[in-house]
Amino acid sequence: MKVTYSINYQDGRSSDSRGNQLLSQRARTFKRQMMCRRDIDSFSVPFLSIYESLIPPEEEKLKQNQLLGLLEKLVCKEWPMARLYLYGSCASSFGVSKSDIDVCLAIQDADVDKSKIIMKLADILQSDNLQNVQALTRARVPIVKLMDPVTGISCDICINNLLAVVNTKLLRDYANIDPRLRQLAFIIKHWAKSRGVNETYHGTLSSYAYVLMCVHFLQQQRPAILPCLQGMNPTYSVRVDNVDCAFFDQVEKLGHFGRHNKDTIAHLVWGFFFYWAYCHDYANSVISVRTGSTISKRDKDWTRRIGNDRHLICIEDPFETSHDLGRVVDKRSIKVLREEFERAADIMQYDPNPCIKLFEPYVCSSD
Ligand code: GTP
Ligand code: MG
Repeated sequence: MKVTYSINYQDGRSSDSRGNQLLSQRARTFKRQMMCRRDIDSFSVPFLSIYESLIPPEEEKLKQNQLLGLLEKLVCKEWPMARLYLYGSCASSFGVSKSDIDVCLAIQDADVDKSKIIMKLADILQSDNLQNVQALTRARVPIVKLMDPVTGISCDICINNLLAVVNTKLLRDYANIDPRLRQLAFIIKHWAKSRGVNETYHGTLSSYAYVLMCVHFLQQQRPAILPCLQGMNPTYSVRVDNVDCAFFDQVEKLGHFGRHNKDTIAHLVWGFFFYWAYCHDYANSVISVRTGSTISKRDKDWTRRIGNDRHLICIEDPFETSHDLGRVVDKRSIKVLREEFERAADIMQYDPNPCIKLFEPYVCSSD
C-alpha cells in the first residue's frame, strides 16, 4: 500500500482562528473508515522513550514522603485526630516528573467550616518556614497552596475531599492491571500540556478527565485491555459524602486481563486520537468508566445547558455520577479541543515522525 503524506494540520494559527478548522460531518464519516497506517508499530520504541523520560525518579517519591511527614507533624499539633492522604497523580501513579502534590486533610467533625480550617492551616504552615503559602478559600475546592524550600516541591492541601482519595485509588488500581494504561496516559497528558488543552480555567480538560478517557478507551478495545472494576463483585467498599463507592480491587488477580490484546502503545495512541477525532458521538454520548461503556446523554439529562454546565463533551465521574468532567468546556473551547484531536489523529496517520510533531508546543500567534 502506498502511504501518502497529506498533512493538513496547521501550526502557528492565529489565536482567533484556533478551533475554526473542524472537519465537516461528512469528512469525519469518511475518515472513520480509514485503516491504521502499516508502519504504526515502528513508533512504539520512541513513544516508550518519551514515556520513560517522564517517569519521576525514585528520589522524587522520597522527597514527597519527606514533605508529607513534615506536614503530618505540623497538622497533628493542631488537630491530633486528623489524617493526611496523598491523592491526585502523585498517588495514582499518573504523575510525571516534577508534578505538584495533592494532599487531603481529613478532619472528622460533622460541621467543619472549611474556610476557617484553611485559614488556620495557612497560619500554621506560614509560621514554619514553608514558602508561598496562600489560602484560596473561595475556590470550588478550597485549598492552601505552599512550596517547601527544602525539597522544592509545591503542594495543594484540601479539606475532607475524600472522594478524590477514593477515585485516586480506583485509577491506581486500573494502572496496576495493564502497563499500557500508564504509558498511554503519560503520552496523552504530555500531548495535552504541550498543546495547551489541559487548562480547565481556559475551558479545556483536567488531567483527571484525560486519565478517565484513557481508561474508558482501553475498556472499549476488543479484546478489552481493561475490565470494568465497578461492574465486578466489590472487594472494596466505602461510603463517602453519601456516595457508595464499591469496586473490585484485588487487581493482582487481573494481571493477565489484557493479554489477548497485543496492540502496541503506538497503535493505542493512534486509536485514542482516531476515536476522539472521528468516532465519538459528541451530541449523544457520555463516556462512563463506571459502566465500562458509553451511555446516552438523554438518560442523564445532560442534553441541555443548566447554569454554566454545557455538556459539550461528556465524561461521567465514576462516583459522583451527576458530575460531568467536561462541564468546563464551552462553545469556543470544544472547537479547540476537537481540532486538536483531529490534528493529532492526522499526525498519527500520516506524519513521518509523529513522536516529534505530536508534542510540538502550540504557539499562539496574534497576526
Ligand atoms: P497533574 O497534577 O496534572 O499531574 O494531574 P492530577 O492527576 O493530579 O489531576 P488533577 O489536578 O486534574 O486532579 C487531582 C485529583 O483531584 C484527581 O486525581 C482526582 O482524584 C481529583 N479530581 C480532580 N477533578 C475532580 C473533579 O472534578 N471531581 C472529583 N471528584 N475529583 C476530582
Ligand atoms: Mg495534581
